[in-house]
Amino acid sequence: MFEQLSAAPADPILGLTEAFKADSRTGKINLGVGIYKDEAGTTPILSCVKKAEEALLSQETSKSYLSIEGTAEYGQGVQRLLFGKESEIINTGRARSAHAPGGTGALRICAEFIAQHMPSKRIWVSNPTWANHGNIFKAAGLEVVNYDYYDAEAKDKDFNAMKKSLHQAAAGDTILFHGCCHNPTGIDPTAEEWEELAKLSAERGWLPLFDFAYQGFGSGIEEDAAGLRVFTQHNPELLVASSFSKNFGLYNERVGGITLVANDATQAETAFSQVKSIIRANYSNPPFHGSGIVTTILNNASLYVEWEKEVAEMRDRIQAMRDLFVQTLKEKGVAQDFSFISRQCGMFSFSGLNPDQVKRLKDEFAIYIVGSGRISVAGMTRNNMDALCNGIAQVL
Ligand code: LMR
Repeated sequence: MFEQLSAAPADPILGLTEAFKADSRTGKINLGVGIYKDEAGTTPILSCVKKAEEALLSQETSKSYLSIEGTAEYGQGVQRLLFGKESEIINTGRARSAHAPGGTGALRICAEFIAQHMPSKRIWVSNPTWANHGNIFKAAGLEVVNYDYYDAEAKDKDFNAMKKSLHQAAAGDTILFHGCCHNPTGIDPTAEEWEELAKLSAERGWLPLFDFAYQGFGSGIEEDAAGLRVFTQHNPELLVASSFSKNFGLYNERVGGITLVANDATQAETAFSQVKSIIRANYSNPPFHGSGIVTTILNNASLYVEWEKEVAEMRDRIQAMRDLFVQTLKEKGVAQDFSFISRQCGMFSFSGLNPDQVKRLKDEFAIYIVGSGRISVAGMTRNNMDALCNGIAQVL
């Protein structure tokens, strides 16, 4: 039976990592997948994570199953990060959270929840968006449509075009927002724009779904939640898919969260029972280790301070690389203006490099970036900057 199958296309992001690993050239550079690299070009285990793991190892007494949603402490920690410690949402029990296997797992649970239980099966995603969004939502049976977001000419967000296309969204449609550090453009709505979008969403009766994978990589852990928090003030119901892959460096632990906010605690409880059914039918209940690390750090004052500091270091290093990249390209005689890279935030920027240039970078210079022209700034270092900018200057 299997002989009838044809091969699936390589994943535009993870497929690139496979090709990168197989490349034997020295000095190869991977700016494809969004993984943080330090100055030495390695993806470090945060020091707060190591300490939390040591504590877990000595305290753990059982490997028994967790409940379907994971531990209560983890869910509370997720909610404090999303909504703030003194949030009314937390105090009134209007939110329920489950540990999902990474942000992708959380998005898939949201997608199935929408497909099974929401009246509209249509979801709107920004154009462009993360390459996997379409796969996840379509796999659950949703219709995926685009709203405008990016002005390729200006290398900036086009807020008017965004609102114009979102006006076509019907009541009950789900709208996907990137909580911060928009992937792939690195451009977020301003505070005023978030407020406007939040009001529009309430007026039009949309279901907002926040993909929140980069908290702390924009301006700060609290600051980056501003858009989501404004939304919660105007929209009593929403969904959040959050991830700790990047901000705790826990990529391979698959630790994220699905959070459902409802009108009141009773409705939250009922709706969340459906989320739990979806989880049970998918992977039954989550693994412990990653959520144990996060919970330990969030509930320990000194580890929390250390975590905030380590997130700030990652954020500042990426910003420094943004500035150095712009400066080095200038020094290499590149006439094209790349200053927009410095103004953007998070791990990614949309470089504006076309598919031919992307291909040449890979073939001739062993520089890997996503076919769309998305670059992971988090993969730049002082050591690879010269070779990177040389390659880009050549293909331009
Ligand atoms: C990315 O966008 O590179 C990351 O979110 C990793 C992934 O799974 O694609």
